[in-house]
Amino acid sequence: MSNFFELINKRESCRSYSNKKVSKEQLVKCIEAARLAPSACNSQPWSFVVVNSEEKSPLVAKCIQSMGMNKFTNEAPAFIVVCEENANLSASLGGLVRKQQYAQGDVGIATVSICFAATELGLSTCILGWFDEKKLIETLKLSKDKRIRLVIAVGYAKNENIRDKKRKSIDEIMTYID
Ligand SMILES: Cc1cc2nc3c(=O)[nH]c(=O)nc-3n(C[C@H](O)[C@H](O)[C@H](O)COP(=O)(O)O)c2cc1C
Repeated sequence: MSNFFELINKRESCRSYSNKKVSKEQLVKCIEAARLAPSACNSQPWSFVVVNSEEKSPLVAKCIQSMGMNKFTNEAPAFIVVCEENANLSASLGGLVRKQQYAQGDVGIATVSICFAATELGLSTCILGWFDEKKLIETLKLSKDKRIRLVIAVGYAKNENIRDKKRKSIDEIMTYID
């Protein structure tokens, strides 16, 4: 795929995955996209736990499901757990002075970079914000103070048709000053 806007349109949240496996190489490429993402003061306040295991992926899925949410994650062959790490001194101080939470924005940018990279590779993703952080930390044996911000389900879509995007209009979201 060569057109960036085609890629933007193709990326959508996938909630039905085929049983085709995802390779380690593909997932590493996705993390490479995150590695190159911009961040405040180049702080790179992130780390990623990649789970691509017939045994462990279903255990991760269980941490993302409750109150009827996210049952579809049972089908996802792989997950990328996106963690927020400490920002560097410049980004921390800048955030304090400017009253901004740069690190959370940085993590979001890295997350969407992963999703676009996955789409470019023919994979499908779903960003997941509904998860039990404590349970995920226990399941993956992460350090207790890990801050998990998002989880990304990754796999091959069962159905490759792209839905129309439901979005606010440009007029609703843009103030144009010239
Ligand atoms: C921070 C964040 C959290 C989300 N959490 C969930 C989730 O827990 N479950 C889910 O099915 N989709 C989740 N989504 C996906 C959104 O519902 C989806 O991005 C939005 O409806 C737009 O649709 P699209 O991604 O198909 O373009 C999340 C997306 C973001 C950015």
